[in-house]
Amino acid sequence: MAKISVSILSADFDNLNPTLALLEEHGAGYLHLDVMDGVFVPNETFGPELVKSLEGTTGLPFDIHLMISNPAEFVSGYVTKNTEYIVVHEEVAEDLEGLLSQIRALGVKCGVAIKPNTAPETINSVIGKVDQILVMSVEPGFGGQKFIDTSLDKVRYFAEERTRHSYDFKIAIDGGIGEGNIAKIRDAGADIIICGTSILGAPDPAAVLDRLNDIVE
Ligand code: DX5
Ligand code: ZN
Repeated sequence: MAKISVSILSADFDNLNPTLALLEEHGAGYLHLDVMDGVFVPNETFGPELVKSLEGTTGLPFDIHLMISNPAEFVSGYVTKNTEYIVVHEEVAEDLEGLLSQIRALGVKCGVAIKPNTAPETINSVIGKVDQILVMSVEPGFGGQKFIDTSLDKVRYFAEERTRHSYDFKIAIDGGIGEGNIAKIRDAGADIIICGTSILGAPDPAAVLDRLNDIVE
């Protein structure tokens, strides 16, 4: 059974508590926190202060997606009691294996993300050592973009590799996902399905989350 990880990128940050309560009540699996630095991606969001301020305000575990150019310097700032995963991008890691060990040493799970133009084989050397692989199904930077269909081939590739080698990482997919395409994403083998705009941009986010959960459960 896949879990929905909700990106709060498009939420109202001045009034987050009702949103967090709604997501928890309606069975979100994770809170997906998109950290952007305006360098690795052409957009800036929030940093460790905001993430720390959310600690304890929800029972949901945090799935932290670092879209920053120098993650090794900053990962420790994202450890909170809620943090389950800290995910870094392959494209910026000089020593990816070292960075993943650094994250694990902080007592949280580690993940590696790849952009749409990054081949899945690029991370072959670390896939036995990660807790999560995040396939970006849009160019990182903004919510509300169109899903890139070839991402499904990457999800299938990692699912096959996992079976072949008995790895136990989770496969996450991020960007452009909603009621119209979540079934095929589930069928491709994704375990953590990240949705932002389709839920929080809807007039009735709770109803959308209920329906998405019905499809993946
Ligand atoms: C994009 C982010 C995503 C994105 C998801 O850089 O990593 O998490 O905001 O949002 P939607 O569902 O709107 O594509
Ligand atoms: Zn994300």
